[in-house]
Amino acid sequence: MSEITNQKHKEFLFPCVANYYKEPLVIDRGEGCYLYSKDGKKYLDFFGGILTVSIGHCNPKVTEKINEQTKKLQHTSTLYPTENIVKLAEKLAKITPGKLQKSFFTSSGTEAVETAIFMAQHFTGNQEIIALRHGYSGRSFLAMSLTAHSAWRHGGTHIAGIKHAVNPYCYRCPFGLTYPNCDIKCAQDIEELIQTTTCGKIAGFLAEPIQGVGGFITAPKEYFQVAVPIIKKYGGVFICDEVQTGFGRTGKKMFGIEHWEIEPDIMTCAKGMANGVPIGATVARTEIADSFTGLTISTFGGNPVSMTAALATIQTIEEENLAQNAYEVGGYLRDGLLDLQKKYPSIGDVRGMGLMLGVEFVGDNKTPDPGIVANLFEETKKDGVLIGKGGLYGNVIRIAPPLNISNTEVDDFVGVFDAALSRCQS
Ligand SMILES: Cc1ncc(COP(=O)(O)O)c(C=O)c1O
Repeated sequence: MSEITNQKHKEFLFPCVANYYKEPLVIDRGEGCYLYSKDGKKYLDFFGGILTVSIGHCNPKVTEKINEQTKKLQHTSTLYPTENIVKLAEKLAKITPGKLQKSFFTSSGTEAVETAIFMAQHFTGNQEIIALRHGYSGRSFLAMSLTAHSAWRHGGTHIAGIKHAVNPYCYRCPFGLTYPNCDIKCAQDIEELIQTTTCGKIAGFLAEPIQGVGGFITAPKEYFQVAVPIIKKYGGVFICDEVQTGFGRTGKKMFGIEHWEIEPDIMTCAKGMANGVPIGATVARTEIADSFTGLTISTFGGNPVSMTAALATIQTIEEENLAQNAYEVGGYLRDGLLDLQKKYPSIGDVRGMGLMLGVEFVGDNKTPDPGIVANLFEETKKDGVLIGKGGLYGNVIRIAPPLNISNTEVDDFVGVFDAALSRCQS
């Protein structure tokens, strides 16, 4: 059965719709932290549909609300206000940090980023944007231009006026320094980047608190405190991309940037916000939101079904204290991974926060080892565990299960990961 699906996938979809695994896995259904293939095999899902299934597959608390909503009203467009678009915007104003007060809804993270960049340019009257190397922003032309991985940037010449600062990648410090004796040079360097490669007036700085596609690269705790004042000095706003890090993922806090204790001017959200229903949100300070009153529309933005799913997801994260669970269970998982690091020299770095943990694989002298990651993928799949990968060199395993897992699932995962790793040692 799976073979026919895979064959037709090749025949009728663009080949760039690439799947994981040598023999792609045709998924039939999901329940909690498990997925079931068309062939009836059960898999422990430790990637959650790319950090999207925040509270488990087909969580009844969300699906029941979606079902009710689809019977009542599925679509209006933004031409009419609905109760739930207002409720969700009000909720975001309450739970996002600082002065973020007003929302614009779309259908994806890419659109959320597009909206944020446009608003930053419009509000400041400046054009140039600072983004980070190893960052990922989506698949539109602008988002690819913001992205700093050649493998994800297509189409040759990109949108001008985007400058990429070196990223806070302590394991491979771009300056060859060692934290904490580095004076956070990667953040300080943004000033020279602005002085030398821009006109000296910027619209904004776009950064993920933890770089997702980049391989869960986690900035040192001082990073944003140093970087953001530089951005402000040159007229820019801070756009925090919480597409991966939002909604409890990083543990304890609702949003990743809260760990760095700095307030963004604009925030982008998507993925885990609605547990798998398509959504994007750009949340901004009132003055920024109010600066643009021109015509614009998002046909599916604010869709009643997406709004309902997001409200139910956020409510569950809050009621079940899942940010705290991500912190506790994530800590337990991190300990398990650190134990494996002692056993396997190929594990160069274990990083991340909460239930967003990355494992970077290396050979001698920290040489990236994407080969072991490719093998680990096939081996963990055999034992019924799904993981993600990332990093500029394709040598990072990304682990991001639903936030409501327990230590039991972590034990299962670590056991499989350990056994698969032992089979992958050359
Ligand atoms: C940090 C970040 N921003 C933006 C996006 C784009 O989101 P989407 O794929 O929903 O368009 C992604 C997707 O992975 C992301 O990780």
